[in-house]
Amino acid sequence: MDNGAVSTLLLGGSEAVRTLVNGIVPAGSMREYPFDLNILVELPADLQPACIICENPPADISSIELAQMFRANYPNAVIYFVTEDRKEFDRKTFKKNGFTDAFLMPVDRGELSISLRRALVRITESRTFRAVKLIDLSEDTVLDFQTYVHLPLNNKHICFSNAGRPMTAERLNRLRKKEVGSMLVDEAEMSKFYNYTATRLRQIGASEQISATEKREKMESAVRDLMGGLFNEASKGNSLEKGRGLVTDCQQIVRSYIVEGGGGKNDWYDKILALGSQEEGTYGHLSNVATFASLFSMGLGIGDPEHLAMAGLLHDVGLIQVPEEIQLKELNQMTPEELAAFQRHPRASVDVIKNWRMNIPEIVTKAIMQHHERFDGSGYPEKLSGGEICPEAQILGIADEFDELVTGKGGVKMTPSAAMRCIISQDKEKISYGRFDPSILLALGKIIPCESEAA
Ligand SMILES: [Fe+2]
Repeated sequence: MDNGAVSTLLLGGSEAVRTLVNGIVPAGSMREYPFDLNILVELPADLQPACIICENPPADISSIELAQMFRANYPNAVIYFVTEDRKEFDRKTFKKNGFTDAFLMPVDRGELSISLRRALVRITESRTFRAVKLIDLSEDTVLDFQTYVHLPLNNKHICFSNAGRPMTAERLNRLRKKEVGSMLVDEAEMSKFYNYTATRLRQIGASEQISATEKREKMESAVRDLMGGLFNEASKGNSLEKGRGLVTDCQQIVRSYIVEGGGGKNDWYDKILALGSQEEGTYGHLSNVATFASLFSMGLGIGDPEHLAMAGLLHDVGLIQVPEEIQLKELNQMTPEELAAFQRHPRASVDVIKNWRMNIPEIVTKAIMQHHERFDGSGYPEKLSGGEICPEAQILGIADEFDELVTGKGGVKMTPSAAMRCIISQDKEKISYGRFDPSILLALGKIIPCESEAA
């Protein structure tokens, strides 16, 4: 890109979006414009920005017309609509009418940031590659994206498999024998990788050609592959970014598993995210718990991964009825009244969901109601124990506890590996309270490689 070239146009920039864009777009290559049609129609055709970010225009200007005007002038640009208005937000309609994509703030903040980075990568022509684990590869696997490997000797990326062609036996062997490093995918094609992974997970789960044992082994190994990098202590010093990238990848895979896998009928995932997320922090927690619970469900063969994702997104919606000052306290700092109010939140979540009149399977409601119950009877609200607690609630509880430990909600932030070790070994010093079902923890220990002590 030439010096001084404009990569991004921002219309009606709110402080939050301006800050986000400034953190991504190279200095000096973003231009801001007000919603003034006299100015906008006069923008030069040779501007050719890579990206146009359009926030909510005033009532007398139609966002759709803006999108179509920009589309006509700048056919190669990606045009994003960004709004905080959740009532009017319908991603599909925006996309149908000229926008490349639409984002609801603040819940889609992370996704907007990733999409913007990708849009900019395309114009700088400096490709970014991501190391991925491709699950369940075989000789007849045909990927719709190209894969690469890195040759460290001359620091080059070479093509490993071509889009649309089967993987050859020779290449697969080299991969299995670890003669080549990680498989890499062009950052711009990551959505195809998510779709491939989600589709394979669906296919393995639904396959009638393989035995139950084989199915279980394949799912265990797929989840181990997908989540393994998170638990690799060696990558710890490498950067937190690496971990974040992997969590985002897992989220996108689970989202794709549900949204695309449901034959287009499962739009509840995005709807619930928009409904249930009051702020960014909550969004991260709900989305992480949904992702981990769904992957644990796949890997352990317990419950339906879709149910676990739904329960993950909804499990804490009842917290809106608990004052924030109580939520910020540790359980042992709360007065008895505060503790009682806080411990009502699983039931409150179920009540909130009923008010939404959403069609929620009974097992999802049950898992939400029981997500703080513990195997030894030390949980709440009903102090259930052992087999009184459904396995789905156990998985949800483990995912919830895991996310709290890695995000440091309980005070100390742990690496994913250390957090999982605490949960599996039931380290009473570190985890908040109570125990999980030992047989589930044992099975989890088999798919999560976190036995080694942190260096
Ligand atoms: Fe909770």
